[in-house]
Amino acid sequence: MFVGGYISAAGLGLTCPEWPLCPNGIFPNEEYFIEWVHRLVAATTGTLVIATSVASWINKNAGRKIKFTSTFAAALVVTQITLGALVIDLKLHAVLVAIHLGVGILLFAMVLLTTLFAFKITKPRIETKT
Ligand code: HEM
Repeated sequence: MFVGGYISAAGLGLTCPEWPLCPNGIFPNEEYFIEWVHRLVAATTGTLVIATSVASWINKNAGRKIKFTSTFAAALVVTQITLGALVIDLKLHAVLVAIHLGVGILLFAMVLLTTLFAFKITKPRIETKT
């Protein structure tokens, strides 16, 4: 999200006009570097988010809540990467860029909730004397 915000603010969104790879191929070069980083981080994030979801279904101790948030996150990350391709294809259409930001925020929220459930971080119970 940080790299995407920088690309957007610096007006570098169309420096790499192709998808999934930039015109020079798989390795980075100076011209497309920032877009290359955004895609590399997206691919890594996508792999980790989907792996987390699969792990939540395999693990017998995983509860319903973590299964829901991790699966929702996996669906969002696939949507987000597809949207990224559309953002490029439709030359940074404002509505698509806005949806790309919104889905990114929702994805962040689901990943955060998954982490909280995984470590069972809940509000401490306040003991009241009656
Ligand atoms: C996990 C996956 C991804 C996340 C979380 C993500 C997140 C973001 C965010 C937060 C922004 C800034 C939006 C704004 O400030 O309005 C952004 C911008 C952008 N993203 Fe992504 N992104 C992801 C994947 C991709 C992919 C796979 C592509 C394309 C191959 C892509 C292409 C772009 C482009 C071109 C911009 C700049 C839009 C502009 O210039 O206004 N993103 N991304």
